Amino acid sequence: MSGSWLHAISLLTCVGYASFAAAAAPPAADPCAKIAGKSFILPTDALACQKAFPFNETLRQNVLSNIAGVFDFFTFEDYYLKSPPPFQESTVDIRATLARLNRTRFATDYDFNWAVYQFTTQLNDGHTHIFTFLLQGWFPNCYTNFQNIIPTPLVSLEENGVQSIFVAPDAVEFSNLIGTEFTGFFDSIGFDWKRLAGAKVIQIEDQDPYDYADFVAKTVSGNYLDHGVRVNSAFSSYRISGNAFSQRIGDMAGPTGSVQTSLKLKLIPVNSTRAETVSVPFLTNFLGSPFTDKASFWANNCAATDSTNGIDFKGASFSPPPRRLPRADIIDKGESSAVGLPHEFEPTLPPVNGSTGVIKSFILPDSKTGVMFVGSFGGDFNGFQHDVVAAVTQFKAAGVTHLLIDLTDNGGGFVCLGQFLHQYLAGSKIGYPGFVSTTRGNPLAQKIVAGDIAFGLNGNFAFYTADNWAFLNDTQMPASFNYLSPVAPFVVNGRPDPTSQRFHDTCDLGFVESVPEDPPFDLNNGQCASTCAMFSTLMNERHNTKIAIFGGRPGQSIEFKGMSGNQVLEWFDLDSEIKTGGVKDDPLAPPDLLVSANMRVNWRTAWSFFDDQRPIAYVSELPKFRFAYTKDTYNNPQNLWTFAASKLFS
Ligand SMILES: *[C@@H]1O[C@H](CO)[C@@H](O)[C@H](O)[C@H]1NC(C)=O
Ligand SMILES: *[C@@H]1O[C@H](CO)[C@@H](O)[C@H](O)[C@H]1NC(C)=O
Ligand SMILES: *[C@@H]1O[C@H](CO)[C@@H](O)[C@H](O)[C@H]1NC(C)=O
Ligand SMILES: *[C@@H]1O[C@H](CO)[C@@H](O)[C@H](O)[C@H]1NC(C)=O
Ligand SMILES: *[C@@H]1O[C@H](CO)[C@@H](O)[C@H](O)[C@H]1NC(C)=O
Repeated sequence: MSGSWLHAISLLTCVGYASFAAAAAPPAADPCAKIAGKSFILPTDALACQKAFPFNETLRQNVLSNIAGVFDFFTFEDYYLKSPPPFQESTVDIRATLARLNRTRFATDYDFNWAVYQFTTQLNDGHTHIFTFLLQGWFPNCYTNFQNIIPTPLVSLEENGVQSIFVAPDAVEFSNLIGTEFTGFFDSIGFDWKRLAGAKVIQIEDQDPYDYADFVAKTVSGNYLDHGVRVNSAFSSYRISGNAFSQRIGDMAGPTGSVQTSLKLKLIPVNSTRAETVSVPFLTNFLGSPFTDKASFWANNCAATDSTNGIDFKGASFSPPPRRLPRADIIDKGESSAVGLPHEFEPTLPPVNGSTGVIKSFILPDSKTGVMFVGSFGGDFNGFQHDVVAAVTQFKAAGVTHLLIDLTDNGGGFVCLGQFLHQYLAGSKIGYPGFVSTTRGNPLAQKIVAGDIAFGLNGNFAFYTADNWAFLNDTQMPASFNYLSPVAPFVVNGRPDPTSQRFHDTCDLGFVESVPEDPPFDLNNGQCASTCAMFSTLMNERHNTKIAIFGGRPGQSIEFKGMSGNQVLEWFDLDSEIKTGGVKDDPLAPPDLLVSANMRVNWRTAWSFFDDQRPIAYVSELPKFRFAYTKDTYNNPQNLWTFAASKLFS
């Protein structure tokens, strides 16, 4: 989600600024053996191992052919030719860039993959949307399993009416949670990072610190189409990860990769009046599979695995699941190394029922405001529904009249859980709780659907079969219906881009909890403050719900959703559709990957309620309320909710 009420998300991140050519280490006998078994490594050592594999033309052709084929399914490809305002920063000719990547000379396999990664990350389709963020992008596990970290997360806080960038005041508590292998390194080199906690930052890398945050938002933080949302992901923030309160380090202090060796900060420490310049050294956190040397690094982290490429679900050994659930979420590599929110900043209020999963709910001391912190739309599909019912039931029993939904750093998840929450809060009388959507009508997609029909398949086997969807009157389509024949003509930026017929989701078929007819709280009176891509867009477009965003750069606009798609397909999923539909031998089908990686794209467009010719992703929606974080709220959810309730519900 984007933005979200709070703020934003982030995601993946990538390279920092600087050039990656500069950091080559001296040749070692086996640069991977040198870092084997360590979780925290010097960036130059990490990069030396990553650069130990020479450029391989066979792998380039494999990767680029795969990516080119997958982009045929990316619903926003043609929009990128000329992204409409205010999203102009995300303008790129995808095919021309692929051709350039095919011509460029690269010294190492790393250099090639990093260039592709940067290119797809900067498409900024962090898709956020509906309940989800989607991200398209190329994720070579070999090289995205490294994350640079410094013990000085950065935040933008308001103090005496002025917003400035600070080293997070809780930098010590936060960094200690990363562990002594991390902090011990700084102690061992005599670098006193603890005294920097809370320091006011005047410059970063010799620039205005907000300019540097902008730079990182432009070049590092992918995932969100809106620049303002990406600026937020440069900063540290609270979130829910692994069903627990957590703190995200932010893209300036925790970029993916091992490119930067240090971050130069000009700052004024707490209790000082004198500005000084420090270079905070990065350490690289290795997040991948264990290895002992160069050969095992490649075998365990870089070579394709059994789960890299898709499966023909018609195969005899496969027993189909009851129903496949569409997802739309972002990839945040840093999630795998997530640390908790320092305990002292967790809510002190007793949680209400239904707070053991991705949702944490509370009743504020005013006794009238219920808070649901929806950390993601993923996790346990049925458990999420039970938790919503349990929380709302307890809210009603306690006489709660105002509902605050916090979507800070919500990375998306199941499309249908976003629709469930929307419908539960809005009541079933609103009818269909989702968006009208389409897939692209490219020739291979048409062959997949025709293949599925010829094999007599249904939604247990494929996302492409029609029984996954409903006609616009909400009657489920029969599995044998071909919604890609004929395709519907559509033109984007002068390019013909035919789509499928328009359809609805069929989420209600998978709900285990029934939805009340009437809303449990009065949405139209602004009793519900929420945000977050699809969910927040629906709440905004259909219910005029109050939406507030925290953070961003002062004076710069921020969308409350980063970007919205409607469903992401991972490469494994798309390849399974192709194989199950019986068209893997078609010349248009992307080849199986030879390396361990994922190329994911937004596969369905969601169309705006107000303008059915525009994808919701390209409809600019600014929040009605915008607040700065303070030192009391940036890492303290309960303080933030109390503040938000006082502003929104008074
Ligand atoms: C390039 O990669 C392919 C596929 O992994 C491999 O078969 C080939 O040996 C590699 N070429 C070189 C020169 O290493
Ligand atoms: C890259 O360029 C070469 C030479 O023009 C061409 O044969 C090859 O098909 C191109 N690869 C891809 C993936 O487009
Ligand atoms: C700053 O000064 C105050 C008051 O003397 C003291 O309580 C606090 O610990 C000092 N903080 C740091 C980081 O030195
Ligand atoms: C919370 O859940 C428990 C166990 O299901 C139930 O007994 C209790 O009544 C619930 N409390 C409220 C206030 O709804
Ligand atoms: C819904 O629309 C489809 C396609 O137009 C039609 O075949 C079907 O009969 C309609 N169902 C109802 C209940 O109106």
